[in-house]
Amino acid sequence: MTPSVWIALKLGVGIAVALVVIRQCRKPTSWPGRFFAHLMNSRHRGLTLWGLSHVTVTRQSTVLDVGCGGGATIAELLTRAPEGKVYGIDFAEASVAVARETNATAIASGRVDIQQASVSNLPFPADRFDVVTAVETHYYWPDLRADLREIGRVLKPGGRVALVVECYRGKRFGTVEVWALRLLGGRCFSVDEHREALTAAGFVDVAVAEERAKGWLTAVGTKGRSDAPPA
Ligand SMILES: C[S@@+](CC[C@H](N)C(=O)[O-])C[C@H]1O[C@@H](n2cnc3c(N)ncnc32)[C@H](O)[C@@H]1O
Repeated sequence: MTPSVWIALKLGVGIAVALVVIRQCRKPTSWPGRFFAHLMNSRHRGLTLWGLSHVTVTRQSTVLDVGCGGGATIAELLTRAPEGKVYGIDFAEASVAVARETNATAIASGRVDIQQASVSNLPFPADRFDVVTAVETHYYWPDLRADLREIGRVLKPGGRVALVVECYRGKRFGTVEVWALRLLGGRCFSVDEHREALTAAGFVDVAVAEERAKGWLTAVGTKGRSDAPPA
């Protein structure tokens, strides 16, 4: 084989691998997707624990994790709501399969339910959840404001949503990530954009926290109570 054919071959393999990675991060499918879902379970643990420290989950809470990936956040939420119930949704088949494996015992005992669904059309009635979490996923959603409104629909009045990310605009040394995410078909949001999106979707008491040293962000909003006095 001539050197130029060898280089072309290596380049082709490199591009093919990059395309697989790009596609699988956004919507995990089949065996590469299952691999990524497992990988995300361990990689996002620190970020998830920090993010969850910004919302109160009680022993009896009913919680939904949107874009649940491999299901590690669901397992963590279950330890905080041992007398409640935890639901997960993800639009990717491979994520749902791994999340179900990760939480098999809790599913069998009826404490966890995981479904394949999009954030844009949640398969739940209105006013169902005390807390909704979304870790490293909302930058892929088709329409952040509309999708947050859909989350608001399924939250109980007074319920809270927490968006948790390590890829956001304005993060220290985050420029490469912002562009990489664009390649993946996603969009990073700034601190102000998080605040604006939650407010525009009807949430109140909106707060955005950053862990600058790690490059983590959590944006939390509360669904207003209809009986609340006007501000
Ligand atoms: C980077 S992974 C994060 C998974 C998990 N939350 C974690 O922290 O490990 C993003 C997940 O969001 C899911 N996702 C992306 N867009 C979605 C949408 N529109 N509706 C539901 N799930 C979505 C993907 O399928 C993928 O499993």
